[in-house]
Amino acid sequence: MPDRRLTPDHTVPSPHRLAFGGDYNPEQWPESVWQEDVRLMREAGVTLVSVGIFSWALLEPSPGSYDFGWLDRVLDLLHENGIRVDLGTPTAAPPAWFYRAHPDALPVTREGVRYAFGSRAAICHSHPAYRAAAARITEQLARRYGGHPALALWHVHNEYGVPVSACYCDGCAAHFRRWLQTRYTSVEAVNEAWGTAFWSQRYASFDEIDPPRLTPTVGNPAQQLDYRRFADATMRENFVHERDILHALAPGAPVTTNFMTALSQCDSVDYWAWGREVDLVTNDHYLITDGRRTHVNLAMAADLTRSVAGGAPWLLLEHSPSGVNWQPRNPAKRPGEMARNSLAHVARGSEGAMFFQWRQSRRGAEKFHSSMVPHAGTDSRVWREVVALGADVGALAEIRGTRTVPDVAMVWDWQSWWAQSLEWRPSQDLDARERADAFYASLYDRHLTVDFAHPEADLSAYPLVVVPALYLATEAAGRNLRAYVENGGTLVVSCFSGIVDEHDAVHPGPYPGALRDVLGLTVEEWSPLLPGETVRLSGPGGAELGGDVWTEFVVPRGAETVWTYADGPAAGGPAVTRHRLGRGTAWYVSTRLDAEALAPVIDAACADAAIEPRSDLPTDVEVVRRSGENGAYLFALNHTDRDAKVPLERSGTELLGGERAAGHLTVPAGAVRVVRLDAE
Ligand code: GAL
Repeated sequence: MPDRRLTPDHTVPSPHRLAFGGDYNPEQWPESVWQEDVRLMREAGVTLVSVGIFSWALLEPSPGSYDFGWLDRVLDLLHENGIRVDLGTPTAAPPAWFYRAHPDALPVTREGVRYAFGSRAAICHSHPAYRAAAARITEQLARRYGGHPALALWHVHNEYGVPVSACYCDGCAAHFRRWLQTRYTSVEAVNEAWGTAFWSQRYASFDEIDPPRLTPTVGNPAQQLDYRRFADATMRENFVHERDILHALAPGAPVTTNFMTALSQCDSVDYWAWGREVDLVTNDHYLITDGRRTHVNLAMAADLTRSVAGGAPWLLLEHSPSGVNWQPRNPAKRPGEMARNSLAHVARGSEGAMFFQWRQSRRGAEKFHSSMVPHAGTDSRVWREVVALGADVGALAEIRGTRTVPDVAMVWDWQSWWAQSLEWRPSQDLDARERADAFYASLYDRHLTVDFAHPEADLSAYPLVVVPALYLATEAAGRNLRAYVENGGTLVVSCFSGIVDEHDAVHPGPYPGALRDVLGLTVEEWSPLLPGETVRLSGPGGAELGGDVWTEFVVPRGAETVWTYADGPAAGGPAVTRHRLGRGTAWYVSTRLDAEALAPVIDAACADAAIEPRSDLPTDVEVVRRSGENGAYLFALNHTDRDAKVPLERSGTELLGGERAAGHLTVPAGAVRVVRLDAE
């Protein structure tokens, strides 16, 4: 399909400003409050607000009758005040009348329970009446507001894939059969792909196939994997349907839908595929406060979002000014944390910082979620920090269109994650997401900016590529990684990768089928460890490392052993290996090493890749670069409680304070500095 991505100047609110603002829900407030809203928005430097995302019941109070008056007034008021609009199609929350007419459009769980009306996102994406109703309201909005001067961006639906990742109703069953017919043509091909000779699961016709509903014991893994693909493709089809209406009827504004790339927040969407369908990639990100280093998870989500956008500028469409309301415990952000969060996204490619939400609700499920205008009012820390951040975002306008500069790449594939997460794996403790987090943290701690890449993508631009979890690897992926190494790349692969093909069938021959050649080894057997068990590894110069969760009996076939199991089931055998192949090197790590234990392996791989260590940068002081026609920019974010010094390779001008900087940049505890480096 043609690349619909528009040029950066069409993607964000205006060519001259970064986006700053949030979800604005004026329908929850009397109109008298709106005047105060726009006055405060101006005070805070708001440039863009997201409107109408959940307004279907108000916009179409009964089938086919519309009330646009209030939205007209909101858009006009915003326009008069110089604020642009990200306008929602409200199709994530159909009204009560829709469900009265179509009760079977409520989704059904795997267990056969039908959800009820009264929340949001209760949608069976296969339902023809839902698709028709969504198309009608989208057409109405496109016709009415396509030419409105406030319109900057179309925001289709909301966070596809959460909270309902798939529906298992009879309508979806019929749709799934049609999807399978297109994908496989014949039922014999389905039988072959799903391995239905096993447990008498053979199908004589497509009519016999159902969604993978609740079964007494484990269901067919290939069927489950295909159902995840089907559910994802069905949601995407509905997005494309709305997008195409908007493109046809209101072509002036780009179309997005807000992603949730953080692996902790959405596991049901293959964002590689979605990234190709939107005009502008946008993302929502919320800190998960589980005691881990949240700024590292944030950086990872931002890097993943930029990668889904193909490296192009993207936009952070939601994050929280302070605490959220949906975790077991919801701490307030610490002073300065909001700005660090926002500007970390900007450093990693976002063209602004948007929040959920503008004014804190008095009613409904989200009334205890922080907002830009909190219940406490404007005499509050949150408001003062919002106003200060608005000024900072305003001062960074010139970075628009520049791109974040990556150092290394990490291979990630949602479909492999889906496959690895199915039941009856050798160990439930080996978790793809945990591996990705740990490898990312190890790279973050080396101050390396990470691009993510699909396993079949061109990797030749990166000196180092890490593969933390690629249980499912197609033959094409195997060939791709091999060619990358042969052509001079340095690869680091983690255990239990390269095992199955796209149908969850084990690659023929010894493990790891798809990656044997590139790694120069085979794995005869694996032996997961029990909770609390650990293994010791001995390595160069008598160094020691500790692993847990997983061990393997590795047989080198060309690779050299760098670290050896000192104890445990595979004692005396290779634990970490290195294979010279062509002009490059492939490392293999056969046990679970946490981020800290990975350090010597990553350091050695960096040495192979000729990546200089950045030991002059303190831990948790994040340094990221953006560069483009306007210039080269260095972002320094100090996540520690001590002032830090960041070496500058060139002198420059600090944009948030306006001072000149040379030699070293001092970044006070908790602060952010952005330097426009002088031209070379
Ligand atoms: C997002 C959602 C918003 C709001 C927010 C609260 O996932 O898109 O509408 O609910 O969470 O954190």
